[in-house]
Amino acid sequence: MATLGLIGSGNIGTTVARLAVAAGIDVVLSNSRGPETLAETVAGLGERARAATPEEAARAGDWVVVSIPMGAYRKLPAAALAGKVMLDTSNYYPVRDGHIEVLDSGKTTPSELVQEHLDGAKLVKAFNNITDYHISALARPADAADRAALPIAGDDPQAKASAADLISRLGFDTVDAGPLAESWRFDPETDPYVWPYHADPDAARAGFVKTIEAIRSGSPTPTQLPTSDDPGFPLPAARLRTLLADTPRKLTADRA
Ligand SMILES: NC(=O)c1ccc[n+]([C@@H]2O[C@H](COP(=O)([O-])OP(=O)(O)OC[C@H]3O[C@@H](n4cnc5c(N)ncnc54)[C@H](OP(=O)(O)O)[C@@H]3O)[C@@H](O)[C@H]2O)c1
Repeated sequence: MATLGLIGSGNIGTTVARLAVAAGIDVVLSNSRGPETLAETVAGLGERARAATPEEAARAGDWVVVSIPMGAYRKLPAAALAGKVMLDTSNYYPVRDGHIEVLDSGKTTPSELVQEHLDGAKLVKAFNNITDYHISALARPADAADRAALPIAGDDPQAKASAADLISRLGFDTVDAGPLAESWRFDPETDPYVWPYHADPDAARAGFVKTIEAIRSGSPTPTQLPTSDDPGFPLPAARLRTLLADTPRKLTADRA
């Protein structure tokens, strides 16, 4: 019986947990406030789900999906994650996470920084370039003709293969974007980031610009991009490969 541990049970964590349960995988959810605060989420997911502490979720998982604000990475339970295949969904947003000089300058990538902190974990970057809404909308069985592909990056080939197997069971093909040093290729505002999974990327971009303007004029920071009711586009692996190969790097200073 396979088990997925989750550290972070917000938009992405619960969406991935839902797909895992649908695929017959047990899930152990966790957050920063304690298992009791996840009672409703667990009840909604059914008998394959339970809540625990981040340490317990990490120890229980055959894989562990970490989906927390990137700025909190130092709080991750390093000892419990040692040896685990860990799927890191996080993105670096200075407005939310605070400025981190080595990321602003491009000396390293966000996933390399997290990997450095979690020396023993086998980190695979995944699920960071698609909204939670489109993870739900685009998941398909393995034999579906309209299956979308997601990029993954990591330094351990076996961990990448294991993550790809999990992601396939959850409903997506994968494209290997290389080691963590290349993971910037699908970070925020690169070509493979979020827009190609929209049926109407132009409308989505316009919504994004509107959101940025709202933030600049003092509105509270949203935790997710506006996706409205866009049904999604099943981005094929071949197209994703081209986007990954051709995208320019977007350092903090180049980003909206
Ligand atoms: N939303 C999207 O569509 C999307 C798409 C791609 C990538 N991402 C990235 O994925 C990550 C998660 O995004 P999200 O939208 O799912 O965020 P979210 O809805 O705000 O959820 C964040 C989760 O992380 C938990 N958390 C925070 N600090 C923690 C800690 N120290 N230990 C354990 N759990 C902790 C929170 O628990 P509490 O509530 O108890 O604090 C919450 O369950 C972010 O880095 C985001 O940039 C998001």
